[in-house]
Amino acid sequence: MDSFEGLGSPSSEDTLLDDAGERRALSLPTNFESSPEVVRTALNDFPDISIHTGWIPEILDDLPERKWDFVHLDTDHYVPVRDSLAYFLSRMAPGGVIVNDDYGSNFFPGARIAWDEIRARHGLAHEVFETGQAAIIVE
Ligand SMILES: C[S@@+](CC[C@H](N)C(=O)[O-])C[C@H]1O[C@@H](n2cnc3c(N)ncnc32)[C@H](O)[C@@H]1O
Repeated sequence: MDSFEGLGSPSSEDTLLDDAGERRALSLPTNFESSPEVVRTALNDFPDISIHTGWIPEILDDLPERKWDFVHLDTDHYVPVRDSLAYFLSRMAPGGVIVNDDYGSNFFPGARIAWDEIRARHGLAHEVFETGQAAIIVE
């Protein structure tokens, strides 16, 4: 699941104060643009993959209604981390794992803010790894 058009517009949570006291995002909306074809080629050995192209949260409606065992979130920005985490939390299989790739990122503060807001709301513990990734195991 990816826009393949890049990160899109940042929210205020995705910005940091610069030396002049202005809030700025450290990325551009088009950063990480790619294409489904690039991913399909790279994952050629896995013919059963499904690629869902579009913006989160809208593209979440495109996913099959099912239980998930493993979810890896790597969307950098506040809104897609918030809305993906909310979506998958209620659809995880017992013992399922959700990883936030950008939890410890110095470039993408919104990924941590969204994750911590939802963890606090649901009283969820997590593990933070040396890589900066964080993971929730859903009971
Ligand atoms: C750092 S890249 C990671 C891509 C991939 N996981 C990888 O490791 O190559 C972040 C990705 O999040 C996607 N993204 C960011 N915000 C999004 C949103 N609201 N909806 C869909 N995709 C989004 C971007 O298009 C980009 O491909």
